[in-house]
Amino acid sequence: MFKSNFDMLAPIYPLLIQQFVDDYNLDTGLAIDIGTGPGFLGIELAKITKMEIIFTDIDSDAIALANKNFIQSGTENGAQFVTANVENLPFPDNYADFIMSRGSIWFWKDSCKGLLEIERVLKPGCYAVIGGGLGRYAPETMRKRLLTSMHKELEKKNEKRPSLDEFKLMVAASGLKKFRVFTDGDVKSGKWVELNK
Ligand SMILES: C[S@@+](CC[C@H](N)C(=O)[O-])C[C@H]1O[C@@H](n2cnc3c(N)ncnc32)[C@H](O)[C@@H]1O
Repeated sequence: MFKSNFDMLAPIYPLLIQQFVDDYNLDTGLAIDIGTGPGFLGIELAKITKMEIIFTDIDSDAIALANKNFIQSGTENGAQFVTANVENLPFPDNYADFIMSRGSIWFWKDSCKGLLEIERVLKPGCYAVIGGGLGRYAPETMRKRLLTSMHKELEKKNEKRPSLDEFKLMVAASGLKKFRVFTDGDVKSGKWVELNK
């Protein structure tokens, strides 16, 4: 599963990370990639910043793969690989300078609990971005190609994603203190929540 998804999505990870680096001025400190899967988001962040990265996922096989891919990437940033459920993160309060999670929240049993755990672990004054999408730097032709494939894939697996309105309602119900919901720029795809503490 990880391999074919990555083959399709490979071009978006560096673009999404460039967007996060630009939006949140990321350079040093500790970042956590939640529901990291094969680790490509965290690896791209390591490539262009000096941040230490914690790769975390509920699935220990995913963590082993992320570890292997990180080693293969040749980046020399500090890194930790932690098997954990987002709903009960094994990290102290006010710990991380940046937290990101892409394509994972749709699978959390209690997404509100997961969001509140992220808020707890985030340092005051810092940001977390959680959701799914391709990011606003993805060119239009790439966006069209990938969205078509992704929709076909979801249909095949009989999976659904929440609408933007459903996502907004879920986030509003979570009890987060400071947040905003946004999409991949002006296009209608992508659903993200940015939380700020
Ligand atoms: C579709 S993959 C996304 C992987 C990666 N973030 C990416 O964008 O390529 C979703 C990942 O979320 C993980 N996941 C699902 N539920 C989780 C939970 N409750 N806590 C942490 N990770 C979870 C899955 O094991 C899987 O690796």
